[in-house]
Amino acid sequence: MWMLWLMLLLLSSLAAASSSNVKPGSGCQEKCGHVTVPYPFGIDNSMCAMNKNFFLNCSRGDSPPKLMIGDLEVFNLSIENGSMIASISTAHRCYDGLGNRNSDYNDPYVKLGNRPLRFSDTRNKLTAIGCDTSAYMGDPNGSFWTGCISMCTNESAKLNESSCSGIGCCQTPLPKSLKSLNLTLRSVYDHEDMGKFMPCDYAILADETFNIAEFQASEDKSSSNVTIEWVVREKKCPDDPNSKVYGCGDYTTCYYSENGQGYRCKCKPGFQGNPYLGCVDIDECLDKEKYHCEGKCKNTIGSYTCDCPIGMYGDDVTVPYPFGIDDHMCAMNKNFFLNCSRRDSPLKLMIGELEVFNLSIEIGSMIASIFTSRRCYDGLGKRSSHFNNPSVSLGSRPLRFSDTRNKLTAIGCDTLAYMGDPDGSFWSGCISICTNESAKLNESSCSGIGCCQTPLPKSLKSLELTLRSVHNHEDMGEFMPCDYALLADETFNIAEFRASDDKSSSNVTI
Ligand SMILES: *[C@@H]1O[C@H](CO)[C@@H](O)[C@H](O)[C@H]1NC(C)=O
Ligand SMILES: *[C@@H]1O[C@H](CO)[C@@H](O)[C@H](O)[C@H]1NC(C)=O
Ligand SMILES: *[C@@H]1O[C@H](CO)[C@@H](O)[C@H](O)[C@H]1NC(C)=O
Ligand SMILES: *[C@@H]1O[C@H](CO)[C@@H](O)[C@H](O)[C@H]1NC(C)=O
Ligand SMILES: *[C@@H]1O[C@H](CO)[C@@H](O)[C@H](O)[C@H]1NC(C)=O
Ligand SMILES: *[C@@H]1O[C@H](CO)[C@@H](O)[C@H](O)[C@H]1NC(C)=O
Ligand SMILES: *[C@@H]1O[C@H](CO)[C@@H](O)[C@H](O)[C@H]1NC(C)=O
Ligand SMILES: *[C@@H]1O[C@H](CO)[C@@H](O)[C@H](O)[C@H]1NC(C)=O
Ligand SMILES: *[C@@H]1O[C@H](CO)[C@@H](O)[C@H](O)[C@H]1NC(C)=O
Ligand SMILES: *[C@@H]1O[C@H](CO)[C@@H](O)[C@H](O)[C@H]1NC(C)=O
Ligand SMILES: *[C@@H]1O[C@H](CO)[C@@H](O)[C@H](O)[C@H]1NC(C)=O
Ligand SMILES: *[C@@H]1O[C@H](CO)[C@@H](O)[C@H](O)[C@H]1NC(C)=O
Repeated sequence: MWMLWLMLLLLSSLAAASSSNVKPGSGCQEKCGHVTVPYPFGIDNSMCAMNKNFFLNCSRGDSPPKLMIGDLEVFNLSIENGSMIASISTAHRCYDGLGNRNSDYNDPYVKLGNRPLRFSDTRNKLTAIGCDTSAYMGDPNGSFWTGCISMCTNESAKLNESSCSGIGCCQTPLPKSLKSLNLTLRSVYDHEDMGKFMPCDYAILADETFNIAEFQASEDKSSSNVTIEWVVREKKCPDDPNSKVYGCGDYTTCYYSENGQGYRCKCKPGFQGNPYLGCVDIDECLDKEKYHCEGKCKNTIGSYTCDCPIGMYGDDVTVPYPFGIDDHMCAMNKNFFLNCSRRDSPLKLMIGELEVFNLSIEIGSMIASIFTSRRCYDGLGKRSSHFNNPSVSLGSRPLRFSDTRNKLTAIGCDTLAYMGDPDGSFWSGCISICTNESAKLNESSCSGIGCCQTPLPKSLKSLELTLRSVHNHEDMGEFMPCDYALLADETFNIAEFRASDDKSSSNVTI
């Protein structure tokens, strides 16, 4: 009998674990008041947190209960962003309207302690509100101070605005990796000209949710909300991406935060969940919106496959026997088995990494696209980083580039194009030299000016395309910024190629 009860208990705790963000089966509370406390954070029992740095206080005496980290109240904890929202004290300094500072002032000292926490440098700003006001933030050690100054008259100050516009308000960003700071205020003229208008100045560290008008209207101006970044440990990720990382669960990767000065974990692509508890595979087939598939969707660990249903063929491309798709039985043998990728729209017929456009049984050929080689210059004779030397292989299948239908074509005015065997056993190429004036690139076929061509050797299975320049395009100005080397069949048209937006591929006959 009690076995059954135990099993029920186990089952219910497992069910709870799948939807919850706390350690499964631990009995840990997931909420403190309205705030969700996901693992690695924990409350009530230190076993619920990854370690003491993530153990928070939930003051259940308050109504509603308050989640506290040290002496800061926490309103939100985010696993995705590695952040939390907490409130800290503002600085204020008040004047009596006659230029006398009264005793009502506060210069807070905010410290995040020894935990691996830092103020976010991207989401927080120091904001000063006042008309004769300089606000500073500094290291408690006095090792740095930074701030901003706002001067205005009681007439010009428009403090109704929701964001800091510069009148009666100034803002300055935070340095990276701040762990603790002092906020303080100064006044140049002691508010002598301000009358009763704006009795107090404020220095506020707050994130982008801060709204001046709301702040001005609020009764309690003593605190503001900041975004704080947390990390698992203030260490770098290990060099070996496969090694086990402290704090990271299954199917996760480690990443480093400059501001946080340490690492956090995230799910590997294709996985989801809380990376500190371990990620689980995404069943992509259940979310057709996000993971496109019009064919037979099959979930795999970390990914999915999408195959064409038998009888359906790729867009416009007929797949005649001996070729086949979808099922090995449809092809003569594995050499003729192609992939129809229904993840793409329009559909793509693929052989290895090449897209296939036409299969001809009569002449034993197919048309496929391969990458072009490109090298670009800045007009002053300097090569830019914009270049590509593709290497194309037809793999172990019985395929060869057609020697009669394809040519190596170079386009450019100071251009040497080569093709070679990737193992270096041969190189061949052509040279095109011209001036920016003589180049007539409007023509549809390669006429020799600004363009050269050379035939292919027989039986090529794989090759590398590459480009060189004799004078680094020095005399070309901005004319023809890029040279191209491409392998293309007789359908290739220079004018079309020059006019097209995408010059990254060309069609060859195989
Ligand atoms: C925390 O922030 C996220 C995103 O801004 C929000 O969806 C969530 O409701 C917030 N949680 C709490 C407890 O405020
Ligand atoms: C929780 O609160 C108790 C009592 O106020 C205090 O002694 C303890 O240090 C606090 N722990 C944390 C993690 O803030
Ligand atoms: C995480 O960061 C994004 C982008 O900055 C933000 O829109 C989102 O609200 C943040 N989520 C939480 C829970 O803080
Ligand atoms: C003060 O400065 C020293 C060295 O610059 C640093 O090691 C120490 O952590 C600082 N103390 C605080 C409270 O910031
Ligand atoms: C920062 O504030 C603390 C506490 O008020 C004080 O002891 C320290 O001297 C202040 N540091 C600076 C540089 O003013
Ligand atoms: C602020 O707005 C209110 C109403 O929107 C307006 O009456 C008042 O004059 C405004 N104050 C300033 C300083 O612009
Ligand atoms: C602006 O300040 C002057 C004193 O310099 C005072 O006479 C005047 O009433 C103030 N105006 C407002 C709108 O507070
Ligand atoms: C801080 O954020 C919490 C949750 O969004 C909100 O209830 C609170 O009023 C904010 N505090 C301040 C000072 O803006
Ligand atoms: C088809 O695609 C799968 C997964 O992307 C790959 O493993 C397989 O080698 C491909 N087959 C062909 C014939 O290209
Ligand atoms: C394939 O090639 C044949 C013969 O050149 C041609 O008639 C047909 O239109 C081509 N089909 C496609 C989809 O390009
Ligand atoms: C290209 O053709 C257009 C119109 O056909 C002509 O105006 C232009 O001068 C030609 N450019 C070159 C470089 O021949
Ligand atoms: C040709 O290049 C020269 C620099 O050598 C430059 O001054 C001229 O403007 C260029 N002409 C064209 C049409 O780009």
